[in-house]
Amino acid sequence: MNPIQVGLLGIGTVGSGTFRVLQRNQEEIRRRAGRGIAITMVADLDTERARAIVGDAAQVVADARQVIANPAIDIVIELIGGYGIARTLVLEALAAGKHVVTANKALLAVHGSEIFAAARAKGVIVAFEAAVAGGIPIIKALREGLTANRIEWVAGIINGTTNFILSEMRSKGLDFGAVLKQAQALGYAEADPTFDIEGVDAAHKATLMSAIAFGVPVQFDKAYVEGITALQAADIRYAEQLGYRIKLLGITKRTPQGIELRVHPTLIPSTRLIANVEGAMNAVVVQGDAVGTTLYYGKGAGAEPTASAVIADLVDITRLHTADPDH
Ligand code: HSE
Repeated sequence: MNPIQVGLLGIGTVGSGTFRVLQRNQEEIRRRAGRGIAITMVADLDTERARAIVGDAAQVVADARQVIANPAIDIVIELIGGYGIARTLVLEALAAGKHVVTANKALLAVHGSEIFAAARAKGVIVAFEAAVAGGIPIIKALREGLTANRIEWVAGIINGTTNFILSEMRSKGLDFGAVLKQAQALGYAEADPTFDIEGVDAAHKATLMSAIAFGVPVQFDKAYVEGITALQAADIRYAEQLGYRIKLLGITKRTPQGIELRVHPTLIPSTRLIANVEGAMNAVVVQGDAVGTTLYYGKGAGAEPTASAVIADLVDITRLHTADPDH
């Protein structure tokens, strides 16, 4: 059987990681998916840089609509980011009957209802494992591994930039601004780092986990969002003296009054596992009625960790698409 053909919109850090991992592990991925998966078309405004990454393996174009218009492409990966052109292109890809894989948490947290409805209308899939906690398969854990459970709450360190800042401030006594610059240089921070430090990025991710855990629509506008900018070195020091660490947590919880959805700095006893998640690492704790407490830990950002999640979605879609006699 021919490989399923994939079009990639945006070949930056995660896009090039996805391309590289797909090529490096192609035999294993083919075996697991039951069919090869090939990125055969890439759209990026910087066509020269894109060609340098993909060589002859894929056609490179500047216009994303050429990818969407290609009938040979079954899956479109959106790695452009933001709510602007990314939203338009995702909706156009769905309207053209393509499955979509995206890492765009901001887009789905804010426009998810419209996008999921568009996908349902066309009988295609929008997959977004890479949008929450990078390489940690938390969406699949909530949807699949924990599917028997009534989820009580989910709480996580889901922004690497702020966890890195808090860790460095605590362990090295460095100041906020200097550590933020390091996080930007290391590629953890969003293009606009206010999304990281004001808790917005974590709230986007918590919104998506809340929707999956509790079967509610994405409701980013209802989230309580507080970042780490008001924290001072003294707060971190005093917390430590009292036996606590300060972590920025994204929390969503079932209560008799409804679903809570909030992001804010939280005091956690320093003996807890999650209090010891340091640097840019992410961790998510899920409480289910049958399983009890489970903890997921790993890299929440970066080229190959995020590619790992993007490709897991490609494999899922390939399995379903290939098994569906209508396709
Ligand atoms: N800016 C994000 C973070 C990147 O720091 O976690 C991954 O979503």
